[in-house]
Parts: sequence; C-alpha cells; structure tokens
Amino acid sequence: MAHPKLDILEEKGFVILRPYEGEYGPLDPREWESLEYIDWKSGGDTNFAPLASATGEMDVKGFWDHGKPDKDGIWIPSQVEKTPTLRRWVEANKARFGRVRIIKLQPNTYEAVSARYMHQDDNNRLNPDGEGYVVRAWLNLTDDPDSYMVVREVRDDPATESHIPLPQGAQFVVDTERLWHAVYHPGNAPRYALITSWESGPELQRWIDERLPTPVGASA
Ligand SMILES: [Fe+2]
Repeated sequence: MAHPKLDILEEKGFVILRPYEGEYGPLDPREWESLEYIDWKSGGDTNFAPLASATGEMDVKGFWDHGKPDKDGIWIPSQVEKTPTLRRWVEANKARFGRVRIIKLQPNTYEAVSARYMHQDDNNRLNPDGEGYVVRAWLNLTDDPDSYMVVREVRDDPATESHIPLPQGAQFVVDTERLWHAVYHPGNAPRYALITSWESGPELQRWIDERLPTPVGASA
C-alpha cells in the first residue's frame, strides 16, 4: 500500500521539536490526573486515558475494531472537558488526527525496556491506498529529565539505538510502525505523556516546520 510520507522522517524515523512553550495554556497536572484511565499494557506497566477514540466512547482499542483507519478520532466529552489545554494542543495541528491518549507509565529499568518492552505500532491498518501515512506525536507532560524514549531500527541491535529526552514539554514525532520503541523511565513516580496519531501531509509538515529547533549559530 502506498501512503505519502514526510521526507523529514525518512533518514532517522523521528524528529525532535522545540519544547512546548505554553502557547495553548500551562501544562497543569489537574488535566491528566483527574481523567479516567483504562488498564492497557503497551511498552511496560501502563494505563491509558483516551481523549479521542474511534467512536467517542471510552475505548483504547484499535480503530480497526470499528472498521476505521487511525484517523478521524472523535473527542470523548467526559474526558476532554477536563483537558482544555491538551485539546487545544491537538487542534492547533490541522492534520487529521486519530487516537489521542494519555499514557501513564510506571517506573522501569533499562534492562526490561531493552529485553521486553521494545515494540512497533500498527498505525496504518485499514489506511486507504493513497492516503497519508500515519505517524505519532508526543507531548511529555511530566518532567522526566532522566527518562528517554529508546528507538531502534533493529529490535535486538543496540548499535541502531537513539534516545529521545523527556523533560516536561518535550515534543517529537516518531514513525512508530518503522522504529522499535519503548520508554526508559527510572523515576519514582509515573510518567505521563500525550500521544496523538496524525496523518502525514502538508498540514503535519507545516506543524513540524513551525516547531523545528533553531539551528545552532543561526540568528533570529
Ligand atoms: Fe508504541
């Protein structure tokens, strides 16, 4: 199946953006701590709070269970009424979004991440031929300066590994269907992050371009 992809993800499979600067409101723990979470294991001891699902119901399963590709997510009213800033963050990007969820990850070890938790996502099931390829974007909600996402081109080859740092407000886009990935989180409290599926295309390209880091040595 042919899906248009973004050139910027071709070389490494991910792009790290400038951190969130509060454009849509402050990152307030009340937005994510008051939500309803579902026990759903992915990449460690995790729970997920869906904000947008295939149907607008509380559901963290794949959109394919409802005959949809991971696009045209529907906000869940009882959840997003508590997360006005996070909803604005998603809607600032005019690309089609699919599932939008908050992940709550309990502390783990690098050994467990490396040996057990690395996985690829199934982002493009039912994606119609010719439509943009689905990738995922993150906004790290808690401040986890010692944590990072581990990504690898080859699951069992650490030589292909890169690390994506996770301070509060970290923003990045990953082709998680291509890259093996999991988060190493050595803290003593859960790490929370917002994860959004987006369709590749001019809108996502623009959103990324507006957030690319300023090259070192460049003047504003
Ligand atoms: Fe994943």
